[in-house]
Amino acid sequence: MDGRAIGVFDSGMGGLTTVRELIRRLPGEDIVYFGDTGRVPYGGRGAETIIKYARQDVAFLRTFDLKAIVIACGTVSTTALDVLARENPLPVIGVVEPAARAAVQATKTGRVGLVGTKATIASGAYERTLRQMLPTVQVTARACPLFVPLVENGRYRPGDALVDLLVEEYIAPIKAAGVDTLVLGCTHYPLLAEAIGAYLGPDVTLISSGAACVDTVARLLEEGDMTCGKADGGVHRYFASDSAADFGALASIFLGQDIQGQAQQIAIEEY
Ligand code: DGL
Repeated sequence: MDGRAIGVFDSGMGGLTTVRELIRRLPGEDIVYFGDTGRVPYGGRGAETIIKYARQDVAFLRTFDLKAIVIACGTVSTTALDVLARENPLPVIGVVEPAARAAVQATKTGRVGLVGTKATIASGAYERTLRQMLPTVQVTARACPLFVPLVENGRYRPGDALVDLLVEEYIAPIKAAGVDTLVLGCTHYPLLAEAIGAYLGPDVTLISSGAACVDTVARLLEEGDMTCGKADGGVHRYFASDSAADFGALASIFLGQDIQGQAQQIAIEEY
Protein backbone atom coordinates (compact mmCIF):
# COMPACT_ATOMS: atom_id res chain seq x y z
CA MET A 1 0.00 0.00 0.00
CA ASP A 2 1.47 3.30 -1.13
CA GLY A 3 -0.70 6.41 -0.94
CA ARG A 4 1.62 8.65 -2.96
CA ALA A 5 0.35 9.97 -6.28
CA ILE A 6 1.37 9.00 -9.81
CA GLY A 7 2.74 11.96 -11.76
CA VAL A 8 1.90 12.12 -15.46
CA PHE A 9 3.07 14.71 -17.96
CA ASP A 10 2.80 15.53 -21.60
CA SER A 11 3.62 18.38 -23.95
CA GLY A 12 -0.05 19.39 -23.78
CA MET A 13 -3.52 17.92 -23.57
CA GLY A 14 -2.93 14.65 -25.42
CA GLY A 15 -1.51 12.84 -22.40
CA LEU A 16 -5.00 12.92 -20.95
CA THR A 17 -5.71 9.88 -23.18
CA THR A 18 -3.21 8.05 -20.95
CA VAL A 19 -4.78 9.48 -17.78
CA ARG A 20 -8.16 8.25 -18.99
CA GLU A 21 -6.73 4.75 -19.33
CA LEU A 22 -4.94 5.05 -15.97
CA ILE A 23 -8.18 6.02 -14.20
CA ARG A 24 -10.02 3.12 -15.87
CA ARG A 25 -7.32 0.62 -14.93
CA LEU A 26 -6.30 1.99 -11.49
CA PRO A 27 -9.33 3.94 -10.21
CA GLY A 28 -8.04 4.17 -6.64
CA GLU A 29 -4.82 6.03 -7.45
CA ASP A 30 -4.16 9.74 -6.92
CA ILE A 31 -2.87 11.36 -10.12
CA VAL A 32 -1.11 14.68 -10.72
CA TYR A 33 -1.13 15.67 -14.40
CA PHE A 34 0.91 18.41 -16.00
CA GLY A 35 0.31 19.50 -19.60
CA ASP A 36 2.80 21.96 -21.07
CA THR A 37 0.09 23.72 -23.08
CA GLY A 38 2.10 26.94 -23.19
CA ARG A 39 4.92 25.31 -25.18
CA VAL A 40 3.14 22.55 -27.12
CA PRO A 41 3.91 21.12 -29.67
CA TYR A 42 7.20 19.42 -28.81
CA GLY A 43 7.06 17.07 -31.79
CA GLY A 44 8.70 19.38 -34.32
CA ARG A 45 11.47 20.58 -31.97
CA GLY A 46 15.08 19.48 -31.60
CA ALA A 47 16.24 17.01 -28.95
CA GLU A 48 17.99 19.66 -26.80
CA THR A 49 14.84 21.73 -26.40
CA ILE A 50 12.68 18.67 -25.74
CA ILE A 51 15.08 17.52 -22.99
CA LYS A 52 15.17 21.00 -21.43
CA TYR A 53 11.36 21.23 -21.37
CA ALA A 54 10.99 17.66 -20.08
CA ARG A 55 13.39 18.36 -17.18
CA GLN A 56 11.28 21.36 -16.15
CA ASP A 57 8.06 19.31 -16.44
CA VAL A 58 9.51 16.65 -14.14
CA ALA A 59 10.87 19.29 -11.72
CA PHE A 60 7.36 20.69 -11.37
CA LEU A 61 5.81 17.25 -10.86
CA ARG A 62 8.40 16.42 -8.22
CA THR A 63 7.14 19.23 -6.02
CA PHE A 64 4.51 16.56 -5.18
CA ASP A 65 5.21 13.37 -3.26
CA LEU A 66 5.16 10.83 -6.10
CA LYS A 67 5.72 7.09 -6.37
CA ALA A 68 6.25 7.08 -10.15
CA ILE A 69 6.35 9.40 -13.15
CA VAL A 70 4.64 8.49 -16.40
CA ILE A 71 5.84 10.17 -19.58
CA ALA A 72 2.63 10.10 -21.57
CA CYS A 73 4.24 12.04 -24.42
CA GLY A 74 5.58 9.94 -27.30
CA THR A 75 8.04 12.68 -28.25
CA VAL A 76 9.53 12.96 -24.74
CA SER A 77 9.58 9.18 -24.27
CA THR A 78 11.58 8.69 -27.46
CA THR A 79 13.93 11.62 -26.87
CA ALA A 80 14.44 12.14 -23.13
CA LEU A 81 13.56 8.96 -21.19
CA ASP A 82 17.19 7.95 -20.55
CA VAL A 83 18.10 11.38 -19.20
CA LEU A 84 15.02 11.61 -16.98
CA ALA A 85 15.38 8.07 -15.64
CA ARG A 86 19.04 8.72 -14.80
CA GLU A 87 18.36 12.01 -13.03
CA ASN A 88 15.38 10.99 -10.91
CA PRO A 89 15.37 8.48 -8.05
CA LEU A 90 11.89 7.08 -8.73
CA PRO A 91 10.46 4.92 -11.52
CA VAL A 92 10.11 6.94 -14.74
CA ILE A 93 8.00 5.08 -17.28
CA GLY A 94 7.80 6.01 -20.94
CA VAL A 95 5.62 4.64 -23.71
CA VAL A 96 8.21 3.09 -26.05
CA GLU A 97 9.06 -0.19 -24.36
CA PRO A 98 5.48 -1.05 -23.38
CA ALA A 99 4.15 -0.26 -26.86
CA ALA A 100 6.98 -2.12 -28.60
CA ARG A 101 6.36 -5.16 -26.39
CA ALA A 102 2.65 -5.10 -27.19
CA ALA A 103 3.46 -4.83 -30.92
CA VAL A 104 5.90 -7.75 -30.83
CA GLN A 105 3.29 -9.84 -29.04
CA ALA A 106 0.61 -8.89 -31.56
CA THR A 107 2.48 -9.31 -34.86
CA LYS A 108 2.40 -12.64 -36.67
CA THR A 109 4.18 -11.53 -39.84
CA GLY A 110 6.90 -9.39 -38.21
CA ARG A 111 5.79 -6.41 -40.32
CA VAL A 112 5.04 -3.54 -37.96
CA GLY A 113 3.98 0.02 -38.77
CA LEU A 114 4.80 3.04 -36.63
CA VAL A 115 3.32 6.53 -36.64
CA GLY A 116 4.39 9.45 -34.46
CA THR A 117 5.61 13.03 -34.47
CA LYS A 118 8.63 14.15 -36.48
CA ALA A 119 10.89 13.98 -33.39
CA THR A 120 9.62 10.51 -32.43
CA ILE A 121 10.31 9.05 -35.87
CA ALA A 122 13.68 10.87 -36.15
CA SER A 123 14.84 9.45 -32.79
CA GLY A 124 14.72 5.86 -34.08
CA ALA A 125 13.86 4.76 -30.52
CA TYR A 126 10.94 2.55 -31.53
CA GLU A 127 12.91 0.78 -34.26
CA ARG A 128 15.81 0.11 -31.87
CA THR A 129 13.51 -1.26 -29.16
CA LEU A 130 11.46 -3.34 -31.60
CA ARG A 131 14.61 -4.80 -33.12
CA GLN A 132 15.98 -5.74 -29.69
CA MET A 133 12.78 -7.61 -28.96
CA LEU A 134 12.36 -9.14 -32.42
CA PRO A 135 15.53 -8.98 -34.55
CA THR A 136 13.71 -9.93 -37.76
CA VAL A 137 11.08 -7.19 -37.44
CA GLN A 138 10.43 -5.01 -40.49
CA VAL A 139 9.34 -1.52 -39.44
CA THR A 140 7.59 0.97 -41.71
CA ALA A 141 7.61 4.32 -39.92
CA ARG A 142 5.88 7.56 -40.82
CA ALA A 143 5.81 11.00 -39.20
CA CYS A 144 2.31 12.49 -39.25
CA PRO A 145 2.74 16.16 -38.25
CA LEU A 146 -0.77 17.25 -39.20
CA PHE A 147 -2.57 14.69 -37.01
CA VAL A 148 -1.98 16.65 -33.77
CA PRO A 149 -3.54 19.97 -34.90
CA LEU A 150 -6.31 18.00 -36.60
CA VAL A 151 -7.34 16.28 -33.36
CA GLU A 152 -6.92 19.47 -31.32
CA ASN A 153 -9.44 21.09 -33.62
CA GLY A 154 -11.92 18.36 -32.85
CA ARG A 155 -11.51 16.65 -36.23
CA TYR A 156 -10.89 12.95 -35.72
CA ARG A 157 -14.07 11.09 -36.65
CA PRO A 158 -14.11 8.73 -39.64
CA GLY A 159 -16.26 10.08 -42.46
CA ASP A 160 -14.86 13.60 -41.92
CA ALA A 161 -13.36 14.35 -45.37
CA LEU A 162 -10.27 16.05 -43.92
CA VAL A 163 -9.61 13.17 -41.52
CA ASP A 164 -10.01 10.55 -44.23
CA LEU A 165 -7.76 12.52 -46.59
CA LEU A 166 -4.93 12.82 -44.05
CA VAL A 167 -5.28 9.21 -42.92
CA GLU A 168 -4.86 8.12 -46.52
CA GLU A 169 -1.95 10.52 -47.09
CA TYR A 170 0.00 9.28 -44.06
CA ILE A 171 -1.07 5.66 -43.76
CA ALA A 172 -0.99 4.59 -47.45
CA PRO A 173 2.72 3.56 -47.40
CA ILE A 174 2.12 1.61 -44.20
CA LYS A 175 -0.83 -0.18 -45.79
CA ALA A 176 1.25 -0.87 -48.89
CA ALA A 177 3.97 -2.45 -46.71
CA GLY A 178 1.42 -5.05 -45.60
CA VAL A 179 1.86 -4.54 -41.84
CA ASP A 180 -0.33 -6.58 -39.50
CA THR A 181 0.31 -4.29 -36.49
CA LEU A 182 0.50 -0.51 -36.19
CA VAL A 183 1.90 1.38 -33.20
CA LEU A 184 0.08 4.65 -32.56
CA GLY A 185 3.14 6.34 -31.07
CA CYS A 186 1.63 9.70 -30.13
CA THR A 187 -0.79 10.84 -27.44
CA HIS A 188 -3.33 12.17 -29.93
CA TYR A 189 -3.57 9.21 -32.26
CA PRO A 190 -5.88 6.97 -30.18
CA LEU A 191 -8.62 9.43 -31.12
CA LEU A 192 -7.90 8.63 -34.79
CA ALA A 193 -7.92 4.88 -34.16
CA GLU A 194 -11.38 4.42 -35.63
CA ALA A 195 -10.51 6.29 -38.83
CA ILE A 196 -7.13 4.57 -39.17
CA GLY A 197 -8.68 1.19 -38.38
CA ALA A 198 -11.39 1.72 -41.02
CA TYR A 199 -8.69 2.52 -43.59
CA LEU A 200 -6.40 -0.41 -42.73
CA GLY A 201 -9.15 -2.98 -42.22
CA PRO A 202 -9.81 -5.47 -39.43
CA ASP A 203 -6.67 -7.57 -39.95
CA VAL A 204 -4.33 -4.88 -38.63
CA THR A 205 -3.96 -4.60 -34.85
CA LEU A 206 -3.63 -1.04 -33.55
CA ILE A 207 -1.46 -0.55 -30.47
CA SER A 208 -2.13 2.56 -28.43
CA SER A 209 1.15 3.51 -26.77
CA GLY A 210 -0.60 5.16 -23.81
CA ALA A 211 -2.73 2.10 -23.02
CA ALA A 212 0.30 -0.18 -23.30
CA CYS A 213 2.19 2.11 -20.92
CA VAL A 214 -0.64 1.95 -18.38
CA ASP A 215 -0.40 -1.87 -18.40
CA THR A 216 3.27 -1.53 -17.44
CA VAL A 217 2.50 1.00 -14.69
CA ALA A 218 -0.19 -1.26 -13.25
CA ARG A 219 2.16 -4.26 -13.28
CA LEU A 220 4.97 -2.28 -11.67
CA LEU A 221 2.75 -1.03 -8.85
CA GLU A 222 1.11 -4.40 -8.28
CA GLU A 223 4.38 -6.34 -8.25
CA GLY A 224 6.06 -3.77 -5.98
CA ASP A 225 3.08 -3.69 -3.60
CA MET A 226 2.82 0.01 -4.40
CA THR A 227 -0.86 0.35 -5.28
CA CYS A 228 -3.12 2.61 -3.25
CA GLY A 229 -6.62 1.55 -4.23
CA LYS A 230 -8.71 4.15 -2.40
CA ALA A 231 -12.19 2.67 -2.24
CA ASP A 232 -13.91 5.96 -3.10
CA GLY A 233 -11.57 6.71 -6.03
CA GLY A 234 -8.31 8.61 -6.28
CA VAL A 235 -7.89 12.39 -6.35
CA HIS A 236 -6.95 13.77 -9.77
CA ARG A 237 -5.25 17.13 -10.07
CA TYR A 238 -4.58 18.92 -13.34
CA PHE A 239 -2.02 21.63 -14.11
CA ALA A 240 -1.17 23.44 -17.33
CA SER A 241 1.33 26.09 -18.38
CA ASP A 242 -1.21 28.04 -20.42
CA SER A 243 -4.79 29.11 -19.64
CA ALA A 244 -6.48 26.77 -17.16
CA ALA A 245 -9.86 27.67 -18.64
CA ASP A 246 -8.74 26.61 -22.14
CA PHE A 247 -7.31 23.39 -20.70
CA GLY A 248 -10.62 22.62 -18.99
CA ALA A 249 -12.60 23.38 -22.14
CA LEU A 250 -10.58 21.03 -24.38
CA ALA A 251 -9.81 18.30 -21.83
CA SER A 252 -12.99 16.30 -22.34
CA ILE A 253 -12.00 15.34 -25.91
CA PHE A 254 -9.03 13.41 -24.52
CA LEU A 255 -10.18 12.53 -21.01
CA GLY A 256 -13.77 11.58 -21.77
CA GLN A 257 -15.00 13.57 -18.75
CA ASP A 258 -15.60 17.22 -17.99
CA ILE A 259 -13.03 18.83 -15.68
CA GLN A 260 -13.90 22.47 -16.32
CA GLY A 261 -12.87 24.64 -13.38
CA GLN A 262 -10.52 22.00 -11.95
CA ALA A 263 -7.25 22.85 -13.70
CA GLN A 264 -4.66 25.33 -12.41
CA GLN A 265 -2.11 27.33 -14.39
CA ILE A 266 1.55 27.27 -13.33
CA ALA A 267 4.68 29.09 -14.57
CA ILE A 268 6.77 26.21 -15.92
CA GLU A 269 9.77 28.46 -16.75
CA GLU A 270 10.37 28.82 -13.00
CA TYR A 271 11.20 25.12 -12.60
N1 DGL B 1 2.35 14.71 -27.02
C1 DGL B 1 3.05 14.65 -28.28
C2 DGL B 1 3.45 13.20 -28.55
O1 DGL B 1 2.87 12.26 -28.04
C3 DGL B 1 2.22 15.20 -29.41
C4 DGL B 1 2.09 16.72 -29.39
C5 DGL B 1 3.42 17.42 -29.55
O2 DGL B 1 4.00 17.40 -30.65
O3 DGL B 1 3.88 17.98 -28.57
O4 DGL B 1 4.38 12.97 -29.29
